[in-house]
Amino acid sequence: MENFDWKNLGFGYKKSDYNIRCYYRDGEWGELEISSSEYIDIHMAATCLHYGQEIFEGLKAFKGKDGRIRVFRMDENAKRIQSSADGIMMARFPIEKFEAAVEMAIKLNERLVPPYESGASLYIRPLLIGTSPEIGVKPAREYLFILFVMPVGPYFPEGFMPTDLVIMRQYDRAAPLGTGKYKVGGNYAASMYAGKKAKAGGFSSVLYLDSKEKKYIDECGPANFFAIKGNTYITPKSESILPSITNKSLMVLAEELGLKVERRQVLFEELESFEEIGACGTAAVISPVKGIYDADNDKWFRYGNEAGKWCTKLYNKLRAIQYGDEPDKYGWIKFID
Ligand code: PLP
Ligand code: COI
Repeated sequence: MENFDWKNLGFGYKKSDYNIRCYYRDGEWGELEISSSEYIDIHMAATCLHYGQEIFEGLKAFKGKDGRIRVFRMDENAKRIQSSADGIMMARFPIEKFEAAVEMAIKLNERLVPPYESGASLYIRPLLIGTSPEIGVKPAREYLFILFVMPVGPYFPEGFMPTDLVIMRQYDRAAPLGTGKYKVGGNYAASMYAGKKAKAGGFSSVLYLDSKEKKYIDECGPANFFAIKGNTYITPKSESILPSITNKSLMVLAEELGLKVERRQVLFEELESFEEIGACGTAAVISPVKGIYDADNDKWFRYGNEAGKWCTKLYNKLRAIQYGDEPDKYGWIKFID
């Protein structure tokens, strides 16, 4: 058995023992299949290769102190991949099959689930692609669902250490009425140029403003945005951001911790008045933000070099539920025994 340095995994691809596949042909989904190959054999004119019929998900499984494996809110990911499928005209993958595939992949790769003490987790990556050939722009008739897993540490190498974000108005990630709310590969392709520029400048991520007016905060390249002001958790309401399951959970936990929650349009000018900022998502968990640089106006917004009180409380609370250190009051955990 491979000996992982569980505490220093980082966030990157690792080969697993098995992955799960399922094919959609003649209008219906087949059975889940187990594969040990990392490769797929597809038609060169497949719609995923030419016209971007590709959607994906990201979720995590955690090993508790009791040794039991817990998956966090997989029903939400199952629903979101259906919404993404509707968004770009792909065949919907059934919710029960999605959950069965998650369970199967975890069981088959159980040795890759990081131990409790490591603070790492098993990242689960489902994807759906159009596979049949088309050369005119239209949806495929055949689809392939694949789900694979890998052990991961924090998405941002800094982990829970605060990082800086950058605003660059000349780049958009998603169009106002486009595909920003779906988890389509094209959104990430659209974010790579600006993302690379941000990294080169020492920033962990781009903070996007709304593409139409550049007046409101949208989200980060790979995560949602939230801010704390007084006793309020504030997060953008926008048609062009991904509806984050982490953010949805944090809104519930924020209320439990006594914060008011506001999901509304957030003006760029409000950055001045916020006390704490966080980027949140499955991969990012909560990544506290110490500064936001407005590159177009050479102006900094600063939030302190230490993670703020509320970011810390929310992070600890979410992680405690995910690892089973706190009771699962909201029914977010599914055990894989
Ligand atoms: N926003 C974007 C663009 C993302 O890629 C992700 C990651 O999935 C998120 C937000 C966070 O969503 P979730 O909390 O469901 O992982
Ligand atoms: C996730 O948080 O699961 C994501 O999909 C973000 C990603 C771009 C790594």
